[in-house]
Amino acid sequence: MKDMYDVILKRKSVRQYRDELVFTESELDAIREQFSKLVPLDGSIRTCFEIVPVEETDAKFGKYCVNMYSEKKDLYLMNAGYMLQQLDFYFASNNIGSCWYGMGTPKELEKDGLSFVIMMAFGKSLEEDFRHDLSEFKRRDEADIWHGEFDGDVKLAARLSPSAKNTQPWLFESSGGRIVQYRDTQPQGAEPGSRTQTYFNQIDNGIVMCCLETGLSHKSMDFERKIINEKGDGRYWKMAEFTIK
Ligand SMILES: Cc1cc2nc3c(=O)[nH]c(=O)nc-3n(C[C@H](O)[C@H](O)[C@H](O)COP(=O)(O)O)c2cc1C
Repeated sequence: MKDMYDVILKRKSVRQYRDELVFTESELDAIREQFSKLVPLDGSIRTCFEIVPVEETDAKFGKYCVNMYSEKKDLYLMNAGYMLQQLDFYFASNNIGSCWYGMGTPKELEKDGLSFVIMMAFGKSLEEDFRHDLSEFKRRDEADIWHGEFDGDVKLAARLSPSAKNTQPWLFESSGGRIVQYRDTQPQGAEPGSRTQTYFNQIDNGIVMCCLETGLSHKSMDFERKIINEKGDGRYWKMAEFTIK
């Protein structure tokens, strides 16, 4: 994967686009080409992506939407988060504004036997529409989401990750060359039983995993990822362990 660390520092959910800038068909094709480059968390889960004009969805903003469809297998939501976050980085790196759109639904809820999972709205933007300073991020304190010593840049990559309603439902623990990622199943801002708590929470954990790994790769830390995907009784469920080689 291309080093997207700097993109983590500039990205944001862009909900207003530059109407005067339009996509050519070849620019849309270039986005479609990215779909095959998205690295899955679990390659055995079948997925597909399509671009539709926003009018073909109920989304309230965006020029177009990318609809993601997937086989509903174990890990499919985390896989969706992990893959589409790579596309979010691609968009921001090309000054295309984008926003995860959990509340949106497309016309087609099934495609090629796969189920609709989530969409991302996008449209053309300018460099100035993105973030230029860390102070523009609204995020939990580092101490709330990461326990233990580790490289500060890697911690920052995870901390700046986007999430549904900005709930940031994760906790990392590190010691020695090992990081454990937990899913916070009761984050502030997620009503018990809501889609934010049950559904987006899992997508968010795929997103933050993509951000964490972007940080590790940026710092040239080779790692081995072991998916745990625990379904526990308590608040924090162990999702994955990373061993730095
Ligand atoms: C899974 C997911 C679903 C989201 N759904 C919506 C949505 O339906 N509408 C919206 O305006 N923003 C949505 N967002 C954007 C978040 O509100 C946003 O990522 C978060 O507040 C952090 O802000 P930032 O992305 O600008 O850093 C969603 C984000 C994620 C990750």
